[in-house]
Amino acid sequence: MFKKLLGRIKNPGIKLMVERIQAEEKQVKKVFIITLFGSVLGAFVPLMYGKIIRMAGDKVSSVEYIILFVLMWLTVDQVRNWTTRYSDRQGVYTSWNVDYNLFMDSLAHLIRLPMSYLSEQRLGKTVQRVERGADSLGRMIRDVLFSLVPHFLSLAFYFAFMFWIQWQLGVLVFMTVVLYAVAMTSSNKKIVALNRENRKTWEAAWGHMWDVTSNIKAVKANTNEEFEIKRIRDNFDKCYSKEKEAQDLRNRIQAFEHFIFGGGSVITIALGALMLRWEMIDAGGLFSFLGYIQLAYTPFSRLAHNWRFVLETLVIEERVAKFLEEKEEDYESGEEAQVVGDVEFCDVSFKYGESGNEIFRNINLTIGEGETVAIVGESGVGKTTLIDLISRYHEPTGGRITIGGVDIRCWKRESLRSQIAIVPQDVSLLNDTIKLNIAYGDIGKISDEALIEDAAKASYAHNFIIGERFVNGYNQVVGERGVKLSAGQKQRVAIARALLRNPKILILDEATSALDSESEMYVQQALEVLIKSRTTLIIAHRLSTIKKADKIIVMHDGGIAEIGKHEELMARNGIYKKLVDLQSFQE
Ligand SMILES: Nc1ncnc2c1ncn2[C@@H]1O[C@H](COP(=O)(O)OP(=O)(O)OP(=O)(O)O)[C@@H](O)[C@H]1O
Ligand SMILES: [Mg+2]
Repeated sequence: MFKKLLGRIKNPGIKLMVERIQAEEKQVKKVFIITLFGSVLGAFVPLMYGKIIRMAGDKVSSVEYIILFVLMWLTVDQVRNWTTRYSDRQGVYTSWNVDYNLFMDSLAHLIRLPMSYLSEQRLGKTVQRVERGADSLGRMIRDVLFSLVPHFLSLAFYFAFMFWIQWQLGVLVFMTVVLYAVAMTSSNKKIVALNRENRKTWEAAWGHMWDVTSNIKAVKANTNEEFEIKRIRDNFDKCYSKEKEAQDLRNRIQAFEHFIFGGGSVITIALGALMLRWEMIDAGGLFSFLGYIQLAYTPFSRLAHNWRFVLETLVIEERVAKFLEEKEEDYESGEEAQVVGDVEFCDVSFKYGESGNEIFRNINLTIGEGETVAIVGESGVGKTTLIDLISRYHEPTGGRITIGGVDIRCWKRESLRSQIAIVPQDVSLLNDTIKLNIAYGDIGKISDEALIEDAAKASYAHNFIIGERFVNGYNQVVGERGVKLSAGQKQRVAIARALLRNPKILILDEATSALDSESEMYVQQALEVLIKSRTTLIIAHRLSTIKKADKIIVMHDGGIAEIGKHEELMARNGIYKKLVDLQSFQE
């Protein structure tokens, strides 16, 4: 049933909903059947009421009367009650399943997206979107699908009984319902457009809020608390006023519902009473009929109550579907990486995004296996970008990068990255224990405390970890992004992490920049051990780090201006010498 349906659906939001419901098909069918059974059973109730009234008129024996009551009590009260309770409970569980699965899938998707997507987005906005998407879909299944669809399906029964009792009155009720359905769907466009706008406003507000809280220190340092509070308030004010607009629309729809159904009921009752006089219907029949009107209107008025929610969910799921369509970073395909041999850049060009400027063009470069290569150049020239290409965070827009002669695009990203360790410019730690943060370089080693401690010792982090200020030692929690550590401490934790990873290629992006002279000396020693056995790329401003490099690469103006050893480059009297002179002068 679902497969055929899925093929025809164009709207991505509806498609997503159907797919997610399909995943719970068995459970959904069960709840449907039970609920449908309950409402079909309920369809006999008005008929029985009519029968009782007729029996009272016909002066039947009290035994028959009692039997009828017992029968009604059994069917109506007990069985129906049971079906309602069962489907309510199962409905809630199923909706939770759908909610949970969509939420988990979306979060996993978010983490698997490439850096190129993630650095463009406000994450708070995205997280809000997937959270709402999962929550709304769950509610939709519970409040609309399970509590309404079976009732709509049993409408056919209600109408069959109505037509059977008095077909002219049946036609009248049918027309009321059709008129109502047409009126309701005609307001869709407006509501959907309003909802789309609403969602965007909410996401933008949360995106900004997230941005502010994750940069709270900068906010305070620049005394911009009030400025940000005002911006947050303005953003959310916009959300609430848009919500008010949507609520007004909903109220109007509800008023309309009352008007049509109220009018329809009055006309039917009046006409029914006249028919009673003309003997076109008897009292029992009219009584049953009124019961059926009630039954037939209920799903519609409940739908009206949920209508805005249904359309809103549609818009939300549309946005979730769009997010889920974003291409994930491909970790799996390709061969296992064989990181042996020289790293070569052949005619590599790169720019961020389609419309960005070229950061560099036609870079040709060989980094010999086991060599230590330093990259220097003014800020913003593209040093970090260049090394990011080796880990495939971004793909070159032209040319290729090879390791041991093999294009790195042939390899699994996961396998390639597992052999590279980066001590980045801005070390980011998780709000967890120091132990976990060190073990993060090779998470499989988390329970091997001796190894973690060795790495910490080699990176000169051990001393501060077991020092007085760290009450919990290796189990000390480091705070949001590591705020409870100094910059130098963070850097040493990052170096320990790299040590534990034991990579083939090591990348140090200004790795010693945040250290005082003494720590720097220690860390230098630690790094020397680390560097010795592997290919190392160092981005550094500090001369002391660079001098020992096998090769120095000077980047300038989108290309490589000079390559050579320190002495050679000094003798050349070019850009490198200028950089060195400038630094010596500053020191
Ligand atoms: N995610 C990004 N999207 C768009 N442009 C970016 C992005 N990251 C960096 N850039 C731009 O690319 C250029 C090179 O940046 P990169 O970080 O590689 O410089 P860098 O040489 O490492 O500088 P620094 O010495 O200051 O660290 C800069 O002009 C920067 O504005
Ligand atoms: Mg950089």
